[in-house]
Amino acid sequence: MRITVVGSGFVGQATAMRLVQRNLGEVVLIDIIEGLPQGLALDIRQSSPIVGFEPTIVGTNDYADTAGSDVVVITAGFPRQPGMSRMDLLGKNAGIVRSVVEQVVPRSPEAILIVVTNPLDEMTFLAAEVSGYPRDRVMGMAGVLDSARLRYFIAEELGVSPLDVEAMTLGSHGESMVPLPGRATVGGRPLTELVDEQTLERLYERTRDAGAEIVSLLKKGSAYYAPSASVAKMVESIVRNTEELLPVCAWVTGQYGIHDVYVGVPVRLSRSGVAEIVELDLTANELSALRAAAEGIRAKCSDLSKL
Ligand SMILES: NC(=O)c1ccc[n+]([C@@H]2O[C@H](COP(=O)([O-])OP(=O)(O)OC[C@H]3O[C@@H](n4cnc5c(N)ncnc54)[C@H](O)[C@@H]3O)[C@@H](O)[C@H]2O)c1
Repeated sequence: MRITVVGSGFVGQATAMRLVQRNLGEVVLIDIIEGLPQGLALDIRQSSPIVGFEPTIVGTNDYADTAGSDVVVITAGFPRQPGMSRMDLLGKNAGIVRSVVEQVVPRSPEAILIVVTNPLDEMTFLAAEVSGYPRDRVMGMAGVLDSARLRYFIAEELGVSPLDVEAMTLGSHGESMVPLPGRATVGGRPLTELVDEQTLERLYERTRDAGAEIVSLLKKGSAYYAPSASVAKMVESIVRNTEELLPVCAWVTGQYGIHDVYVGVPVRLSRSGVAEIVELDLTANELSALRAAAEGIRAKCSDLSKL
C-alpha cells in the first residue's frame, strides 16, 4: 500500500511516523515548505534500526511522488488560533484543501481520502465535492479521536485501564458530539451502573472541550498525539481489513433517517473505503441528537458557498 500524508506539521508528521512504524505501507510525506518533509522523513528513517521497522518513508514537495497512492491523509492547513473566527478558518483551510485535492486526484484516481483538517465536517464535504470520487472513498477523522478521549477520561475517573473501557461518540466534534451512554462499558459492565448522571455529563463535557483544554495548555498549536493515533487506526483498518466498528465522518444516504450529508456514524472500513454504515439500535434521544448534528453540519457546509 502507498499512503500519502499531506501536511508535515504536528499532526502530519506524527501520523506518518505511526504509519511507517506499523509497517502499514510506503509512506509519502508532503508539504509546501521546502526541506521540511524531506528532513522529517530522513530523521524517521534513521530511527528504524532502533524501533524495528522498514524505513519506507520519503519526504517531498512534489505531487508527482504521490502518484498511485491507495490512501491519502489530508492534514494540511491551519489549526484554529486564538482570535480566529470559524469563517476565517473555513476560508483559509478551504483554499488549502481544495488545492491539495486538485493535485492529488489526477495522480491517484483510486485513492481513499481521509480528511483531518478543520473544520472537519466542512473540509470533508469540500474534499468530496472537489475530488469527484465516489463518496465511500472520502471520509473524515473525528469520532475515533473523541471516542478515545472519552474512553481515557472514563478510565481516569474510575482508576481503570483505558483498554477496559469501551465507548463511542457519533455526530460531530465539540457541541454536536453525540455520546452513546447505553453502549459504554467498563470491564464489560455498563458505565451507567458505575457512575451517576452528573459524572457522565462532566465526562462528556470534558470530552467536548478536550481539544480546547490542550490548546490552552500548549499556548501554541493543538493536539497531535491522539489525533495521529486516531488516523493511524483508520488507515490500519483500511489496509488490514480489520472490520472493526469505528466512528467515522461518512456520507450518509438514509441510514438513521439522515440523507446526503457527512456526519459521524459507526462504519466498517475496507480497502474500498467505507464498506458499511452500521445502524446501531439507538435510543430516541441519541437518534434525535444525531439527526440534529447532521442538520447542523448541513447548515455549516452551506457556508462554503459564501466564500
Ligand atoms: N480532525 C481532528 O480531529 C483534528 C485533530 C487535530 C488537528 N486537526 C487539524 O489538522 C490540521 C493540521 O494541524 P497541525 O497541528 O498539524 O498544524 P501545523 O500548522 O503544525 O501543520 C500544518 C502543515 O500544513 C502545511 N500546509 C499548508 N498549506 C499546505 C498545502 N497547500 N499543501 C501542503 N501542505 C500545506 C503547513 O506548511 C504545515 O506544515 C489543522 O487544521 C488542525 O485543526 C484536526
